Amino acid sequence: MRGPNRTAAVCILTLWFGCLHVIALKSKLFTRHGGLPSSTEPPISYETFYFDQKIDHFGFLEDGTFKQRYLVASKLWQQPGGPILFYTGNEGDITWFCNNTGFMWEVAGELGAMLVFAEHRYYGESLPFGQDSYSDSKHLNFLTSEQALADFAVLIQYLKKTLSGAQHSPVIAVGGSYGGMLSAWFRMKYPNVVVGALAASAPIWQFPGMVPCGDFYKIVTQDFAKSGPNCDSNIRESWRAIGNVSSTASGLQWLSEEFSLCAPLKNKNDVFSFKAWLQETWVNLAMVDYPYEANFLQPLPRWPIQVVCKHLAFDSAVSDHQLLQGLSQAAKVYYNFTGSSACLNISQTATSSLGELGWFYQACTEMVMPMCTDGVQDMFEPEDWNFQAFSDECNAMFGVRPRADWAGIVYGGKDIASHSNIIFSNGGLDPWSAGGVTHNITDSLVSIMIPDGAHHLDLRYSNDFDPPSVRQARELEVKYFREWIRQAKRKPHPRL
Ligand SMILES: *[C@@H]1O[C@H](CO)[C@@H](O)[C@H](O)[C@H]1NC(C)=O
Ligand SMILES: *[C@@H]1O[C@H](CO)[C@@H](O)[C@H](O)[C@H]1NC(C)=O
Ligand SMILES: *[C@@H]1O[C@H](CO)[C@@H](O)[C@H](O)[C@H]1NC(C)=O
Ligand SMILES: *[C@@H]1O[C@H](CO)[C@@H](O)[C@H](O)[C@H]1NC(C)=O
Ligand SMILES: *[C@@H]1O[C@H](CO)[C@@H](O)[C@H](O)[C@H]1NC(C)=O
Repeated sequence: MRGPNRTAAVCILTLWFGCLHVIALKSKLFTRHGGLPSSTEPPISYETFYFDQKIDHFGFLEDGTFKQRYLVASKLWQQPGGPILFYTGNEGDITWFCNNTGFMWEVAGELGAMLVFAEHRYYGESLPFGQDSYSDSKHLNFLTSEQALADFAVLIQYLKKTLSGAQHSPVIAVGGSYGGMLSAWFRMKYPNVVVGALAASAPIWQFPGMVPCGDFYKIVTQDFAKSGPNCDSNIRESWRAIGNVSSTASGLQWLSEEFSLCAPLKNKNDVFSFKAWLQETWVNLAMVDYPYEANFLQPLPRWPIQVVCKHLAFDSAVSDHQLLQGLSQAAKVYYNFTGSSACLNISQTATSSLGELGWFYQACTEMVMPMCTDGVQDMFEPEDWNFQAFSDECNAMFGVRPRADWAGIVYGGKDIASHSNIIFSNGGLDPWSAGGVTHNITDSLVSIMIPDGAHHLDLRYSNDFDPPSVRQARELEVKYFREWIRQAKRKPHPRL
């Protein structure tokens, strides 16, 4: 097992983000790419606006503003007073989340709702210091979830004041993944602004001391275990096989050729990166194990893990070379489904369109999400959670150190029963459900489980291949939306 310092060193030296501590959260909480469009999907059409937002909501010295981008779709809105579904933007370009949250577009008509998609500061076009936003840690200082929530609250107050017919519109927050964490926290912190929230695949408990650090990778492993015979055990065995085969120069060359790598593996550091890249590949597959063909940067077949596992079904008597041949076929399901990739690039991450650097900064400050593996209950090489190594890595990268306890203090951790009107939906296949709310806390803090669902399947467009569990989840979600809207209409109107 490699020591933490070595891990950190490799991470810093290469700035290669497959580093274990960061891998999971970096594991792109984000990704919701479109399915293959079908003619029944409602068209996406919105107007783009920019709002002058304070750079710092919580102090009074920095008085500058920046342009926060937001998108509005109001064709189906029943005014006056029709509801507003407000997407609390994640770590990425908001048009991307907008285009890929088919659920909101599908329910806008039946609810007579206006859709608003608000970009998260420091991502997409919403850069407080323009192109310099990432140039030093002084500029990054205002990249926090608290500032982002305040942006959303101020924006909604402005919309209600200025849009004719919106003054008494109940607002419901919607988000997936980190955006789902934000939607839940938004309802907790600003119950005066939103009447309820849908937090899809939102790991609000993936913080220190709240859930076991190994659960995330356990779920990844279960997905492979149930998708084909010997699938998880052969992957568990593959790390040793890689170690064995790569111990000679000819073995390194064979491995590089077998995997059609763009750049051949040359040394132990390369093998380390190669393993981390494979690990990330299996994690990504678990997140996007959707029941139909979908495009997660790489296009994938329906139930992609079952397809991957077809290449890993042999029993344990095979040689290391045979095992690794199967493994390369399995990896190519992810990287070469369309047959158009010339070689596999282990320094390419699947989420280049996302704000990776921004997310790393957030992971290095407030969003500390412990992950670990033991090689027994999961199919990965054992790796402890090492906060100190993680902190050192953050310090080297950004000159800041994470505050492990802050998320728990500011957002309540497990002690959230005094809040109300939040739906936490989770996919049983999604490793992020490990840090999600998977039981009902009160009558109005409810958890909806989607056993056959991967990462926020419920927020995607409906599809003929959708399992019944996700159809029921969406129906229940809309039922709660209607109930919250009814509650809001019964209350006397708040004065603005
Ligand atoms: C989202 O859709 C709009 C309109 O179809 C398009 O202009 C925009 O480029 C899309 N954004 C992304 C990131 O795909
Ligand atoms: C390790 O690799 C060598 C050659 O690369 C091979 O001969 C040997 O069988 C491998 N060990 C196992 C346990 O498969
Ligand atoms: C991808 O698939 C195509 C078609 O099967 C094949 O010609 C090509 O060699 C594959 N690329 C890699 C990197 O394996
Ligand atoms: C591999 O990906 C990296 C990072 O995106 C890129 O800089 C490099 O050019 C790529 N190599 C090849 C051979 O495509
Ligand atoms: C929570 O309660 C709702 C409503 O009764 C129910 O549909 C749902 O299945 C419950 N969730 C869990 C995880 O038991």
